[in-house]
Amino acid sequence: MRYHRMIHLYFFITWIGFLIGPALLPANAFRITQFISPETCGECHSEIFNQWKHSLHNLSQKDPVYLSVAKYIRKGLIDQNEIAEAESCVKCHVPVGVITGYPQKTSDDEKKIPEIANQGIQCDYCHSATSAEKMYNNGLQLSPGNGEEAPGVKRGPFHDSESDFHESAFSEFHTGSEICGTCHNVKHVAYMTDLETTYDEWKNGPYNHNKDPDKRITCQGCHMYQRPGLPATGSTQRIKNRGVASDDGPVREHIFTHYFVGGNRFVPGLFDDRTKPEMADERLKHAASLAIETDRIKDGKLEIVITNIGAGHDLPTGLTDIREMWLEIEIRDKNQKKVVYTSGKLDKDRYLPDDSIIYRTVFGDGKGNQVWNIAEAKEILSDKRIPPLKSITETISLPQGKQTGLSVHVKLLYRSAPQKIVDQVAGKGKFILPVVTMASAERDF
Ligand code: HEC
Ligand code: HEC
Ligand code: HEC
Ligand code: HEC
Ligand code: HEC
Repeated sequence: MRYHRMIHLYFFITWIGFLIGPALLPANAFRITQFISPETCGECHSEIFNQWKHSLHNLSQKDPVYLSVAKYIRKGLIDQNEIAEAESCVKCHVPVGVITGYPQKTSDDEKKIPEIANQGIQCDYCHSATSAEKMYNNGLQLSPGNGEEAPGVKRGPFHDSESDFHESAFSEFHTGSEICGTCHNVKHVAYMTDLETTYDEWKNGPYNHNKDPDKRITCQGCHMYQRPGLPATGSTQRIKNRGVASDDGPVREHIFTHYFVGGNRFVPGLFDDRTKPEMADERLKHAASLAIETDRIKDGKLEIVITNIGAGHDLPTGLTDIREMWLEIEIRDKNQKKVVYTSGKLDKDRYLPDDSIIYRTVFGDGKGNQVWNIAEAKEILSDKRIPPLKSITETISLPQGKQTGLSVHVKLLYRSAPQKIVDQVAGKGKFILPVVTMASAERDF
């Protein structure tokens, strides 16, 4: 019996190893002492350090929303494929730990994670990268130095960069979307279901400009141009950020910023970061446009058009099974001064009604039943999102076919996750996720 179990275990490990092994750097590829702490880099790159500090890259292992979800989805799993997925989160969320030996599994004791690895996706990790071996589940290949005594080569966008501390080298890899895309494309480790496809959405979209690389707008072209007051989206200017890369370095035409802000208006604020929540707000407010089509009010039907004007990928992107982007509609009868139609209004618990118009993906268990635990995701049941520079038209039937005397109010709203799921995962009321108004429109008929 015991022998049989061992055989099973052996085959299982070999099989998982076959699936993910050749793609991953082995656990003992590097030693933790080879990596230099972000604080050390910050001694000369102080501005970049301050931008990166409390970014979601810095917080990828400390983010309490991530930690609660990771623990919750691991509970009660018995299927080995599903356990393998639930244990794979650290590959991207604690990458320095994984390639230096600890942690290897999501459920490994957090308290034993070395301090440097706890700092998430950090300076020395990204700037030691040389290439991506595959474009999903973190295929980054690395060539780090040997700690502060021999820092090795830091790779970046400059051809002529010099530092007394480390060697520098131009790296074309750092100037393209692939360095981001290898993590911003997530597949289930066993079922290969596409769980996140931000890079693919960008690659197949208009900002890639396949035929003309000079016109291409990379991830960096939006996300590493943003700074407070300058959202740098597809619908706003992406003005160059003149300045210095290191405190005593030469002035350069553009210094790529390191805030790495997306739609998360919540988590950096838990760490007393006041800047990044505001920047997420600015980014979200320039992502979409909303229009009520007056001339199309026919047969008691109203048309609302939502366009992705600012994001280089679908709206929403990333974890689109839990991100919540929806329409809130209220129609009032002006004469009777009462509300005659609503959709997408939060209830007293801040939960969204089931019949709301939501843009998202829904995963299934392989038999057509909805699952929200990504470890169980065998199929995509539905995918309703807005690709870059594309529109979706929603048709609303007006109450009793009425066409006049009505006042229509529509909002496009965003929240990082349904409050119901957050309550279930973290405990009711522990985290109250903010709702951002991305766009709004009003019209009287
Ligand atoms: C997620 C990966 C990532 C992380 C983490 C990261 N960087 Fe960068 N960094 C880049 C990329 C990519 C570029 C170049 C962008 C381009 O050319 O399109 C860059 C550019 C730079 C440059 C050149 C000057 C500039 O900003 O344009 C310096 C210096 C730098 N980073 C230092 C740091 C330091 C210090 C940290 C930590 C506080 C850090 N980086 C964290 C990816 C990263
Ligand atoms: C003792 C000061 C000092 C420290 C510490 C330091 N750097 Fe630098 N670094 C510089 C200077 C100076 C430059 C040149 C700036 C320029 O060319 O504009 C530079 C340039 C860079 C570049 C640009 C390379 C290129 O060719 O594009 C990167 C990337 C970089 N540093 C990353 C790091 C990382 C990561 C760390 C921590 C592991 C670090 N630096 C620590 C001083 C330092
Ligand atoms: C044309 C500008 C633009 C480009 C190019 C772009 N983005 Fe974005 N990105 C945005 C905007 C605007 C948002 C905010 C709306 C949203 O959340 O989707 C955003 C949001 C995000 C988010 C947060 C999504 C969420 O809601 O959780 C991530 C992650 C992200 N981008 C990663 C990337 C990556 C990786 C690339 C390259 C493959 C990229 N972006 C290219 C504009 C851009
Ligand atoms: C090693 C894997 C990895 C690499 C490389 C990486 N990212 Fe990320 N990124 C993550 C993870 C993991 C998170 C989310 C952490 C969290 O929310 O707990 C994240 C978060 C983000 C966010 C914030 C999303 C939000 O919801 O607000 C943006 C924006 C982003 N990354 C852009 C980039 C860009 C641009 C690059 C390339 C220069 C890049 N990332 C490279 C793993 C990576
Ligand atoms: C291949 C890389 C990769 C792996 C593996 C990965 N993630 Fe992530 N994770 C990301 C990226 C990239 C983001 C940011 C996307 C976004 O903001 O929409 C993210 C964001 C998150 C967030 C959102 C956090 C917040 O504050 O809103 C949660 C929760 C999360 N991941 C859970 C997990 C869990 C649980 C696992 C393991 C089952 C896992 N991730 C495995 C790349 C990864």
